[in-house]
Amino acid sequence: MALKKKDLPKLGFLYLDYVLRFFDYSNFKGWPNKIEEVTYHWGDDKNRFIKEVKRKKIDVLIGNIPATAYETFRDIALKLPNVRFIPSLDTQFSNKSKENVTRFAWKYNLPIPKTYIYYNRENGDKFLKKTSYPKIVKKSYGPSNYGGYFVHKVDSYKEAKELLATKKYHPIYFQDFVPMQADIRVMLIGHKPVCAFWRRAPKGQWLTNTSQGGSMDYMNVPKNVLDLAVKTSKAAKAEYWACDIAYGKDNKVRILECATAFAAFPYIRDWIGQYIMWSLSEGLFKKPHIPMFNWEELSKIDASLLRTMRHINFGKFNPSYDGAYFGKKKKMYGDGEKYLHELDSAYKMFDVKRRWGEEWPSSIYNYQDKLKLKSIKSMKVPQLKNQDAPAPDESDESEQLQTISKDELKKFFITVEGIGKKLFKKVLDEFGNTDEVVAILNNHLEVLTKVPGISSKKQKLILNKWVKYNKIKK
Ligand SMILES: Nc1ncnc2c1ncn2[C@@H]1O[C@H](COP(=O)(O)OP(=O)(O)O)[C@@H](O)[C@H]1O
Ligand SMILES: [Mg+2]
Repeated sequence: MALKKKDLPKLGFLYLDYVLRFFDYSNFKGWPNKIEEVTYHWGDDKNRFIKEVKRKKIDVLIGNIPATAYETFRDIALKLPNVRFIPSLDTQFSNKSKENVTRFAWKYNLPIPKTYIYYNRENGDKFLKKTSYPKIVKKSYGPSNYGGYFVHKVDSYKEAKELLATKKYHPIYFQDFVPMQADIRVMLIGHKPVCAFWRRAPKGQWLTNTSQGGSMDYMNVPKNVLDLAVKTSKAAKAEYWACDIAYGKDNKVRILECATAFAAFPYIRDWIGQYIMWSLSEGLFKKPHIPMFNWEELSKIDASLLRTMRHINFGKFNPSYDGAYFGKKKKMYGDGEKYLHELDSAYKMFDVKRRWGEEWPSSIYNYQDKLKLKSIKSMKVPQLKNQDAPAPDESDESEQLQTISKDELKKFFITVEGIGKKLFKKVLDEFGNTDEVVAILNNHLEVLTKVPGISSKKQKLILNKWVKYNKIKK
């Protein structure tokens, strides 16, 4: 049900000094209420920032967090449990480092080049001695880490050792070298691809970054690339998202990078704004209709003009309307010819809802700070205890949060007076999975009453039982 104007959440833009602003008011055209701004000033600014958000009574903070502020904002988000961050800190986990992208991909079985991460330099060195070459070495984390500037190809152990002695990257992060035809950037909103383009390396080179002289084009991005981008966006629960996908000489697809922070034409940021307005207003504002492969046509417009075009709208397919481009046009796609509007129903725009749990808590996943190099100068670091060191590759990746099974949770719920299997199912359907429900029981009981059938009386009964249940479990 669409919200009334007076019930809309209070929005705020999350800004940081010295960081380019992805959104501003103009992207949220038509939002009837004031949108606040809160700017983070770096240094020791956490508490002031939190106070300002509270004082301005902001319900939803919108904006990208750069890598170097990620941990700070993880902390800030914990101290503002009632504020929704868009994108969530869990979604922005991949913004922080290449290591995080890798851990995210490992968890969801998303294809990536085989990757190795070593915090223990001795073990890393041992591995580099015996492994095969070429390998790609990357700096995992740091300010303005993009454009292939911190990506190196090494052809032998000797080269790898020399590189790491001068660069002192920590952790040591490297990948198998994947011979590529090209790399493809896909941008998505609500898991629907809205723009995609190829980036090809200059002849005879392996780096596909266009900032280094490569070329780009928007035509015929293959189905398996779009499908992988959608899968990745869903795994990240991303309201908006960009994926760089390597298209191998073996025709296989692999993720190179993914993040919520990316360069995008203003009209794309307008679409994201409209999407967020639609989602947060529960339908008071219209869902933007963004046809598949619109990018193949829009890209025919000169880039300098595209950069100035704003609020591009498309009509929907209408069978009685003669000559409608997106209704008539067919395209070879996957295993046959398809109408573009058929592809629009195959690639739906989903309403990404707030999550309540913490999927990537820093207490576990901030290896960067937990396993700091003590002396970066000498590189002589004390041997880490085995159990401190994260897994060197996916085969050992087993770190999991403690969870409760669906059956256990169901048993718990039906012990509460007035709650049966049906109502439990409704709870589970509303919030998606057991981890989410547990997070709500622990910290956000107020949202339980969203489920039809859960009255505030039942909510209290649930709380009492939950407190007891946890005492018994301990
Ligand atoms: N494993 C790999 N094998 C071959 N080429 C790679 C590999 N990883 C990265 N590249 C090339 O290097 C470029 C930059 O790597 P990327 O991981 O995107 O780092 P950056 O943050 O610098 O953009 C990619 O666009 C791709 O052309
Ligand atoms: Mg890149």
